[in-house]
Amino acid sequence: MNKNRYLIIINTMMHQYNSNWLNKFNEVISKRKKILTYRYRQAITNSNARLITFLNKKYINFSSNDYLGLANHPKVISSYQNEAKISGTSTSSSGHIIGYSIKHKILEKKLANLLDYPNAILFNSGFDANQAIISTIIGKNDCVITDRLIHASIISAVIQSSGTFKRFSHNNIISLVKILKTTNKYNNRLIITEGVFSMDGDQSPLNDIMMYAKATNSWVMVDDAHGFGVLGKNGKGSAYLKNCKPEILVITFSKAIGVNGAAVLCKYKILADYLIQCARQLIYSTSLSISQINAIDTAISIMQESNCLRRRLRNNIKRFKNGAKKLGLTLIPSNTAIQSITFNNIEHVLSLVKKARNHGIWLNAIRPPTVPMLSSRIRITLTAMHRKCDIDNLLQLLSLY
Ligand SMILES: Cc1ncc(COP(=O)(O)O)c(C=O)c1O
Repeated sequence: MNKNRYLIIINTMMHQYNSNWLNKFNEVISKRKKILTYRYRQAITNSNARLITFLNKKYINFSSNDYLGLANHPKVISSYQNEAKISGTSTSSSGHIIGYSIKHKILEKKLANLLDYPNAILFNSGFDANQAIISTIIGKNDCVITDRLIHASIISAVIQSSGTFKRFSHNNIISLVKILKTTNKYNNRLIITEGVFSMDGDQSPLNDIMMYAKATNSWVMVDDAHGFGVLGKNGKGSAYLKNCKPEILVITFSKAIGVNGAAVLCKYKILADYLIQCARQLIYSTSLSISQINAIDTAISIMQESNCLRRRLRNNIKRFKNGAKKLGLTLIPSNTAIQSITFNNIEHVLSLVKKARNHGIWLNAIRPPTVPMLSSRIRITLTAMHRKCDIDNLLQLLSLY
């Protein structure tokens, strides 16, 4: 075949290949626009745990996971700045090369001591930590059993793993037990739940899950992204609150600690060693900068001593829930900072978000596929930084709806 003819054939094939992709993208995007689930991002000017600025206008922010307001705490900020002056802004390497400093090591020890685990390993994010655990430990003859509402980072890791994936009905122990009864042929079983569910705000029945796990020789992993810093004595989180110790505990700093990053607490030292040997997310990614580590360290110390912030948060949750009850609103039952109102009609959710903006209130619509069909919602997050009048404004808006 002459060279030109060959190039024409390749070009035609490439065009076909590209347009298959472009057609697919077009189809997905058009469908999303049609059924009102098209996702868009809005470039805000800045935000904190109480206020958000967008297009030169300030709104009361009910979409932040910075539950204690630590992301803007002056001591956390100066810890970051001071360390950046010494160590710069990046470790410039993975922890397995030169990206693991004395400060990383001290923080891991501090977290392990705080939560009474032999080992803690730092990760760049909660998403990474969840992916790392599952991709590293789950093999062909293993079974992962998760709550139906488990976080997307866990679902996508399990789908990519070679293990078997089973899901039990949300917080339903009978459903979990049924699955446990039919899965004893697997080499290992890992039950995964969240301390506080990210979209519904309710808490998992950890003690029951631990009991059945023990009886069936299964391991438990708890993702406590939304419990750490907020629940339990000195903010030690959901597992500490319920006096149980899952084999694997994931905490993120990106919520109540106010700084990006996460840690995996391992009940067995050998598991921590195994993650260090095999977790690609650790080995092939630049580690958290020392300035981030310094800021996390300071924020954790402040968090531990911040019973008054936790009290303020609890009071805000109470004020919102009492007000919502008086208005006859139906909330998803939750005692935490995450309070959701579901609608079976996406138009209602979008119109409420628009009205809220006109009232100077920032709410976000959460729609499928992030949440199940017919459960589009307004996910309201309360923080210790909200003032009484902020919550009353929100309630007034909801009363109009
Ligand atoms: C339950 C849960 N796990 C993990 C994550 C991911 O954490 P990060 O934001 O640190 O990646 C989130 C955040 O969305 C979450 O809600």
